Amino acid sequence: MANSEAIEPSGSVQALRTLVNREHLATRVYRRQIGAFKNLLEVDNWLRAASANEQEHIDHISARLTDFEGRPSALGSFFSLVGGIMGLVTRLLGQRLLLRADIAVERMAVKHYTECLAKYEWDEMSRGLLMHLRSEEEGHIERWERALSMLPGS
Ligand SMILES: [Fe+2]
Ligand SMILES: [Fe+2]
Repeated sequence: MANSEAIEPSGSVQALRTLVNREHLATRVYRRQIGAFKNLLEVDNWLRAASANEQEHIDHISARLTDFEGRPSALGSFFSLVGGIMGLVTRLLGQRLLLRADIAVERMAVKHYTECLAKYEWDEMSRGLLMHLRSEEEGHIERWERALSMLPGS
């Protein structure tokens, strides 16, 4: 995603830092939830894939920040810590509430990408990236809704 001709759209660097912080949180939530579906290994594999996918989101946004010569967020580790706690707590709530929490996290992500796309004037490359990442968050919602329907008693 490196682009030496990147032009920083006004205010967008801080918006990218906020987005990458949320991605740190989501990555760690899913990482801590892996193993919660020993009876449904397919769902456990989806958690593993989602954590890897959120890490890719971190990498893509961080590359864009580098293009803009923006510093990485200083709060990434804090958001990772919060995400880890959220992951552990949601595991204690049981599979159904865990998945509902994940859907809520993803809906927030879609909302935040939509707000960022509307609020700032993005260059074409950044806009394309943010739209792609938002579509992947929408895919995560569909996946967790499918997982909910697979739970025993559904
Ligand atoms: Fe993400
Ligand atoms: Fe996601």
